[in-house]
Amino acid sequence: MESIYADRLPEMQGVLEDLSAQVEALRTQMREKNGLDPVEHCLARIKSEESMREKCRRDNLPETTHSALAVIHDAIGLRVVCAFLNDVYEIAERLRTLPGYTVVNEKDYIRAAKPNGYRSYHMILQSENGLFAEIQLRTISMDTWAALEHHLKYKKSVDGNTALLVAELKRCAEELASTDVSMQTLKDMIFDGRNTQ
Ligand code: GTP
Ligand code: MG
Repeated sequence: MESIYADRLPEMQGVLEDLSAQVEALRTQMREKNGLDPVEHCLARIKSEESMREKCRRDNLPETTHSALAVIHDAIGLRVVCAFLNDVYEIAERLRTLPGYTVVNEKDYIRAAKPNGYRSYHMILQSENGLFAEIQLRTISMDTWAALEHHLKYKKSVDGNTALLVAELKRCAEELASTDVSMQTLKDMIFDGRNTQ
């Protein structure tokens, strides 16, 4: 079977590599300016053929290159896991003026968390050659929660406790979010103290 990405895969890989390099460059600039590395780790991937076809079916879209690249916007994906809450917003701000890209959508699931507790800052960028990329920015705590929730979602043996599980997951998300605010406050205290001496 022909790839759902047809002949665009090399271009997609080019955008993925370029965006990864640009995020690394922002990271270096911010480390030099603020004295701390804002990024804990960064992942970059092209959605696999199988996942893309599965997503088309789930969204009731035909399994075409048009669906994969023009309707669905996360064939190219980066996840930037930040140390602190403010780093998420500073990186988002810098991404808005990234040369060669236009921001076509932003969703702040940090200020407005999803009902299940999911938190992240999502941006969709469009490159000059018309490809879309989804960038997810989140803290280490948000990433931990999303990873564990993802594992649990695929466990089918929990039916009887669903309501309790949903409530507990949400509570965990809220505790982690409150820890993020405390850590940011600690960082501000340490750095403001240092900078004024
Ligand atoms: P899809 O969810 O990808 O179909 O697109 P959408 O337009 O609904 O975008 P949304 O911003 O809701 O989610 C995009 C991506 O964010 C998902 O593919 C996941 O990687 C991540 N995400 C969104 N919600 C959740 C969640 O509840 N749990 C976890 N673990 N990840 C989520
Ligand atoms: Mg979704």
